[in-house]
Amino acid sequence: MANLRIDRIRAAAAADLQAATTSAEAETVRVKYLGRQGEITQLLRSLASLPAAERPEVGRQANELKVEIDRLVGEKLALTRAAERRRELEAERPDLTLPGRRPPLGALHPLTRVDDEIVEIFIGLGFAVAEGPEVESEYNNFEALNIPRDHPARDMQDTFYLSEDTLLRTHTSPVQIRTMQAQRPPVRVICPGKVYRRDADITHSPMFHQVEGLAVDRDISMGDLKGTLELFAREMFGARSRIRFRPSFFPFTEPSAEVDVLCFLCGGGGCRVCKQSGWLEILGSGMVHPQVLRNVGYDPEEVTGWAFGMGVERVAMLKYGVDDIRLFFENDLRFLHQFA
Ligand code: FA5
Ligand code: MG
Repeated sequence: MANLRIDRIRAAAAADLQAATTSAEAETVRVKYLGRQGEITQLLRSLASLPAAERPEVGRQANELKVEIDRLVGEKLALTRAAERRRELEAERPDLTLPGRRPPLGALHPLTRVDDEIVEIFIGLGFAVAEGPEVESEYNNFEALNIPRDHPARDMQDTFYLSEDTLLRTHTSPVQIRTMQAQRPPVRVICPGKVYRRDADITHSPMFHQVEGLAVDRDISMGDLKGTLELFAREMFGARSRIRFRPSFFPFTEPSAEVDVLCFLCGGGGCRVCKQSGWLEILGSGMVHPQVLRNVGYDPEEVTGWAFGMGVERVAMLKYGVDDIRLFFENDLRFLHQFA
């Protein structure tokens, strides 16, 4: 009797497993035979009611069957799970023909664009680019430029000192000194860079950008300077732009002039950006002072030169109609996106 029951269970389990096509179905088969209420479990439990003589043999066979079904179910589970995993991977296969998602692109900062544009214009006129450090010696920033200690002109540029004789350069003019010390005339360079001053309002920033220009050669005149800057203004602001030269003073140029551009906001009528004057100052300039030429070992009897120092933020304000210099440094994306 017990033998028959074992054979019957073996056959039924084999048929059930045969029919199972998914891992869930295989799992159901396991529970049906090996679970707590499973047929093998019940068979083993019923051994106690068998005659003592039959018990060992039936018990052995029942245990054998248990091991066998366990193995078969395990095999079926492995097979069905592998197939299911394959189907899953197949379904999730990425479609390599789909177009990619475009990453959001940044854009050049308006100051970078204007800086590049200024440099390009002067490169087109035959100038080379020179650069110098932002941490500068007191000598290059002032002394060599004919601004001795205690000279009142030092007050024109409120300075961040790092030590007794090093400072954050207050203008790009020290690059004039570095360039002339390193080479003989003729010299034609422009020097873009950051400069620093204790200075802050709608047209002044404590860190701002200048582009220095320097031309030294035989017979260089103030007329060359004027012609060069007028050409620059036409390229930068358009043919209808207007600039004016206004007499000024710098210890390192003689004579000196500041250059203003007609105010973009009021068209010359007067507003808060141009302080009611109708003009916005973009640069200081002049003929290189003979003492500066001597300081770098040039002979002022032999060569003359002109120089200018242009404020990049001012040029950008005029070009784009920006009425507060601080907008360039706040990194408000609504502002910056307009230049993308
Ligand atoms: C100078 O810095 C001289 N080194 C310029 C120069 C060079 C004269 C060569 C002669 C020969 P000034 O301090 O005026 O000069 O500054 C030059 C320009 O920088 C100004 O016309 C203005 O456009 C800009 N600028 C000055 N201060 C600031 C500031 N705090 N924020 C933004 N722009 C400024
Ligand atoms: Mg000035």
